[in-house]
Amino acid sequence: MIGVSGASGTPYAAAVLRALVDAGEAVDLVVSRAARLTILDETGLPFRDGRWRDDLAQWLGRDLATADVVHWAAGDLAAGPSSGSYPVRGMAVVPASTAACAGIAIGLSKDLLQRAAEVNLKERRPVVVVPRETPVTRSHLEHLIALYDAGAVVLPASPGFYGAGATASAAQLVDFVAGKVLDALGVEHHLFRRWAGELGAARAEGA
Ligand SMILES: Cc1cc2nc3c(=O)[nH]c(=O)nc-3n(C[C@H](O)[C@H](O)[C@H](O)COP(=O)(O)O)c2cc1C
Repeated sequence: MIGVSGASGTPYAAAVLRALVDAGEAVDLVVSRAARLTILDETGLPFRDGRWRDDLAQWLGRDLATADVVHWAAGDLAAGPSSGSYPVRGMAVVPASTAACAGIAIGLSKDLLQRAAEVNLKERRPVVVVPRETPVTRSHLEHLIALYDAGAVVLPASPGFYGAGATASAAQLVDFVAGKVLDALGVEHHLFRRWAGELGAARAEGA
Protein backbone atom coordinates (compact mmCIF):
# COMPACT_ATOMS: atom_id res chain seq x y z
CA MET A 1 0.00 0.00 0.00
CA ILE A 2 1.30 3.47 -0.88
CA GLY A 3 0.23 6.65 0.89
CA VAL A 4 1.14 10.00 -0.62
CA SER A 5 0.94 12.84 1.90
CA GLY A 6 1.31 16.57 1.43
CA ALA A 7 5.05 17.09 1.80
CA SER A 8 7.13 18.44 -1.04
CA GLY A 9 8.72 15.61 -3.02
CA THR A 10 5.96 14.19 -5.20
CA PRO A 11 8.65 12.88 -7.62
CA TYR A 12 9.63 10.39 -4.90
CA ALA A 13 6.06 9.07 -4.83
CA ALA A 14 5.90 8.92 -8.61
CA ALA A 15 9.20 7.01 -8.81
CA VAL A 16 8.07 4.44 -6.23
CA LEU A 17 4.68 4.00 -7.93
CA ARG A 18 6.26 3.66 -11.39
CA ALA A 19 8.71 1.04 -10.14
CA LEU A 20 5.93 -0.97 -8.45
CA VAL A 21 3.73 -0.85 -11.56
CA ASP A 22 6.70 -1.77 -13.78
CA ALA A 23 7.46 -4.71 -11.47
CA GLY A 24 3.86 -5.93 -11.84
CA GLU A 25 3.18 -5.43 -8.12
CA ALA A 26 -0.37 -4.88 -6.87
CA VAL A 27 -0.72 -1.34 -5.50
CA ASP A 28 -3.31 0.10 -3.13
CA LEU A 29 -3.04 3.89 -3.24
CA VAL A 30 -4.27 6.70 -1.01
CA VAL A 31 -3.46 10.34 -1.74
CA SER A 32 -4.13 12.84 1.06
CA ARG A 33 -6.02 16.08 0.45
CA ALA A 34 -2.84 18.10 0.99
CA ALA A 35 -0.92 15.85 -1.44
CA ARG A 36 -3.26 16.99 -4.20
CA LEU A 37 -1.88 20.50 -3.60
CA THR A 38 1.75 19.38 -3.78
CA ILE A 39 1.07 17.30 -6.92
CA LEU A 40 -0.60 20.32 -8.52
CA ASP A 41 2.19 22.63 -7.36
CA GLU A 42 5.08 20.42 -8.46
CA THR A 43 3.65 18.95 -11.67
CA GLY A 44 0.75 21.19 -12.72
CA LEU A 45 -1.48 18.10 -12.75
CA PRO A 46 -4.72 17.53 -10.86
CA PHE A 47 -5.41 14.40 -8.85
CA ARG A 48 -9.14 13.77 -8.59
CA ASP A 49 -10.86 10.84 -6.88
CA GLY A 50 -13.42 10.61 -9.67
CA ARG A 51 -10.76 10.55 -12.41
CA TRP A 52 -7.93 8.93 -10.48
CA ARG A 53 -6.92 6.39 -13.12
CA ASP A 54 -6.50 9.02 -15.85
CA ASP A 55 -4.85 11.49 -13.49
CA LEU A 56 -2.47 8.85 -12.12
CA ALA A 57 -1.57 7.66 -15.63
CA GLN A 58 -0.70 11.20 -16.61
CA TRP A 59 1.29 11.82 -13.44
CA LEU A 60 3.30 8.63 -13.79
CA GLY A 61 3.60 8.77 -17.58
CA ARG A 62 2.37 5.18 -17.75
CA ASP A 63 -0.51 3.38 -19.42
CA LEU A 64 -2.30 1.84 -16.43
CA ALA A 65 -4.90 -0.14 -18.41
CA THR A 66 -3.49 -3.47 -17.26
CA ALA A 67 -1.89 -2.28 -14.00
CA ASP A 68 -3.11 -3.79 -10.72
CA VAL A 69 -3.78 -0.48 -8.98
CA VAL A 70 -6.66 0.25 -6.58
CA HIS A 71 -7.26 3.80 -5.45
CA TRP A 72 -8.95 4.62 -2.15
CA ALA A 73 -10.31 8.08 -1.33
CA ALA A 74 -8.47 9.67 1.60
CA GLY A 75 -11.78 10.54 3.28
CA ASP A 76 -13.15 7.00 3.06
CA LEU A 77 -12.57 5.69 6.56
CA ALA A 78 -14.64 2.60 5.74
CA ALA A 79 -12.30 1.62 2.88
CA GLY A 80 -10.70 -1.82 2.85
CA PRO A 81 -7.26 -0.69 4.08
CA SER A 82 -8.85 0.83 7.21
CA SER A 83 -9.03 -2.73 8.56
CA GLY A 84 -6.24 -5.09 9.53
CA SER A 85 -8.18 -7.87 7.83
CA TYR A 86 -7.64 -6.26 4.42
CA PRO A 87 -4.77 -8.06 2.70
CA VAL A 88 -1.77 -5.83 2.05
CA ARG A 89 1.94 -6.66 2.46
CA GLY A 90 2.88 -3.38 4.10
CA MET A 91 2.86 0.34 3.44
CA ALA A 92 5.09 3.20 2.43
CA VAL A 93 4.17 6.81 3.11
CA VAL A 94 6.11 8.74 0.50
CA PRO A 95 6.67 11.59 0.90
CA ALA A 96 5.61 11.81 4.55
CA SER A 97 4.61 15.24 5.85
CA THR A 98 5.44 16.14 9.43
CA ALA A 99 1.67 16.15 10.00
CA ALA A 100 1.34 12.60 8.68
CA CYS A 101 4.30 11.44 10.79
CA ALA A 102 2.74 13.03 13.86
CA GLY A 103 -0.70 11.62 13.12
CA ILE A 104 0.58 8.09 12.53
CA ALA A 105 2.87 8.27 15.58
CA ILE A 106 0.03 9.17 17.94
CA GLY A 107 -2.64 7.05 16.25
CA LEU A 108 -4.72 10.05 15.16
CA SER A 109 -6.17 8.33 12.06
CA LYS A 110 -7.51 11.64 10.75
CA ASP A 111 -7.83 10.15 7.27
CA LEU A 112 -7.43 6.82 5.49
CA LEU A 113 -3.69 7.33 4.96
CA GLN A 114 -3.04 7.70 8.67
CA ARG A 115 -5.46 4.91 9.59
CA ALA A 116 -3.96 2.48 7.06
CA ALA A 117 -0.43 3.23 8.32
CA GLU A 118 -1.52 2.63 11.90
CA VAL A 119 -3.24 -0.60 10.88
CA ASN A 120 -0.08 -1.86 9.17
CA LEU A 121 1.97 -0.99 12.26
CA LYS A 122 -0.42 -2.83 14.57
CA GLU A 123 -0.41 -5.83 12.25
CA ARG A 124 3.41 -5.77 12.38
CA ARG A 125 3.74 -5.42 8.63
CA PRO A 126 6.57 -3.42 7.04
CA VAL A 127 5.85 0.31 7.22
CA VAL A 128 8.21 2.82 5.62
CA VAL A 129 7.90 6.56 6.19
CA VAL A 130 9.83 9.01 4.02
CA PRO A 131 9.82 12.32 5.92
CA ARG A 132 10.59 15.49 3.93
CA GLU A 133 11.16 18.55 6.03
CA THR A 134 14.21 20.57 6.97
CA PRO A 135 15.21 21.76 9.45
CA VAL A 136 13.22 19.79 11.99
CA THR A 137 11.86 20.52 15.43
CA ARG A 138 12.23 18.39 18.52
CA SER A 139 8.59 17.37 18.10
CA HIS A 140 9.27 16.14 14.52
CA LEU A 141 12.17 14.07 15.82
CA GLU A 142 10.10 12.66 18.68
CA HIS A 143 7.39 11.55 16.27
CA LEU A 144 10.00 9.82 14.10
CA ILE A 145 11.40 8.05 17.16
CA ALA A 146 7.87 6.95 18.09
CA LEU A 147 7.43 5.57 14.56
CA TYR A 148 10.79 3.79 14.76
CA ASP A 149 9.83 2.30 18.13
CA ALA A 150 6.53 1.11 16.65
CA GLY A 151 8.48 -0.81 14.01
CA ALA A 152 8.49 1.58 11.06
CA VAL A 153 11.51 2.10 8.82
CA VAL A 154 12.22 5.84 8.96
CA LEU A 155 13.77 6.60 5.59
CA PRO A 156 14.32 10.35 5.16
CA ALA A 157 14.24 11.74 1.64
CA SER A 158 18.00 12.06 1.79
CA PRO A 159 19.62 10.79 -1.41
CA GLY A 160 23.18 9.50 -1.43
CA PHE A 161 25.53 10.47 -4.24
CA TYR A 162 27.49 7.25 -4.37
CA GLY A 163 25.06 5.69 -6.84
CA ALA A 164 25.65 8.22 -9.64
CA GLY A 165 28.45 10.48 -8.39
CA ALA A 166 28.64 14.20 -7.70
CA THR A 167 27.06 15.12 -11.06
CA ALA A 168 23.96 13.00 -10.39
CA SER A 169 20.79 14.40 -11.96
CA ALA A 170 17.70 15.20 -9.92
CA ALA A 171 16.03 12.12 -11.44
CA GLN A 172 18.92 9.91 -10.30
CA LEU A 173 18.73 11.33 -6.78
CA VAL A 174 14.96 10.75 -6.72
CA ASP A 175 15.49 7.18 -7.93
CA PHE A 176 18.03 6.61 -5.17
CA VAL A 177 15.45 7.40 -2.50
CA ALA A 178 12.72 5.45 -4.33
CA GLY A 179 15.07 2.46 -4.61
CA LYS A 180 15.75 2.53 -0.88
CA VAL A 181 11.98 2.49 -0.29
CA LEU A 182 11.63 -0.57 -2.53
CA ASP A 183 14.55 -2.23 -0.72
CA ALA A 184 12.74 -1.68 2.58
CA LEU A 185 9.56 -3.19 1.11
CA GLY A 186 11.49 -6.14 -0.34
CA VAL A 187 10.71 -5.35 -3.97
CA GLU A 188 13.43 -5.89 -6.60
CA HIS A 189 14.44 -2.90 -8.67
CA HIS A 190 17.20 -1.37 -10.76
CA LEU A 191 16.70 2.23 -9.71
CA PHE A 192 20.27 2.84 -8.63
CA ARG A 193 23.72 1.40 -8.91
CA ARG A 194 24.58 -0.46 -5.71
CA TRP A 195 27.80 0.16 -3.85
CA ALA A 196 30.25 -2.58 -4.82
CA GLY A 197 33.23 -1.61 -2.71
CA GLU A 198 35.09 0.39 -5.35
CA LEU A 199 35.74 4.10 -4.83
CA GLY A 200 34.96 6.24 -7.88
CA ALA A 201 33.17 3.46 -9.79
CA ALA A 202 30.07 5.61 -10.40
CA ARG A 203 32.21 8.36 -11.95
CA ALA A 204 34.15 5.88 -14.06
CA GLU A 205 30.89 4.39 -15.37
CA GLY A 206 29.52 7.83 -16.25
CA ALA A 207 32.74 8.87 -18.02
C1 LIG B 1 3.14 23.26 -1.71
C2 LIG B 1 3.24 22.69 -0.32
C3 LIG B 1 4.43 22.13 0.09
C4 LIG B 1 4.53 21.58 1.36
N1 LIG B 1 5.72 21.00 1.73
C5 LIG B 1 5.79 20.36 2.91
C6 LIG B 1 6.97 19.64 3.25
O1 LIG B 1 7.95 19.57 2.50
N2 LIG B 1 6.99 18.96 4.43
C7 LIG B 1 5.91 18.96 5.29
O2 LIG B 1 6.00 18.30 6.32
N3 LIG B 1 4.78 19.67 5.00
C8 LIG B 1 4.70 20.35 3.84
N4 LIG B 1 3.55 21.05 3.52
C9 LIG B 1 2.50 21.17 4.54
C10 LIG B 1 1.55 19.97 4.56
O3 LIG B 1 0.90 19.82 3.31
C11 LIG B 1 0.51 20.18 5.67
O4 LIG B 1 1.13 20.03 6.95
C12 LIG B 1 -0.65 19.23 5.58
O5 LIG B 1 -1.49 19.41 6.69
C13 LIG B 1 -0.23 17.76 5.50
O6 LIG B 1 -1.38 16.97 5.47
P1 LIG B 1 -1.30 15.41 5.14
O7 LIG B 1 -0.30 14.82 6.06
O8 LIG B 1 -2.70 14.95 5.42
O9 LIG B 1 -0.97 15.26 3.72
C14 LIG B 1 3.43 21.62 2.25
C15 LIG B 1 2.23 22.20 1.82
C16 LIG B 1 2.14 22.73 0.55
C17 LIG B 1 0.82 23.33 0.12
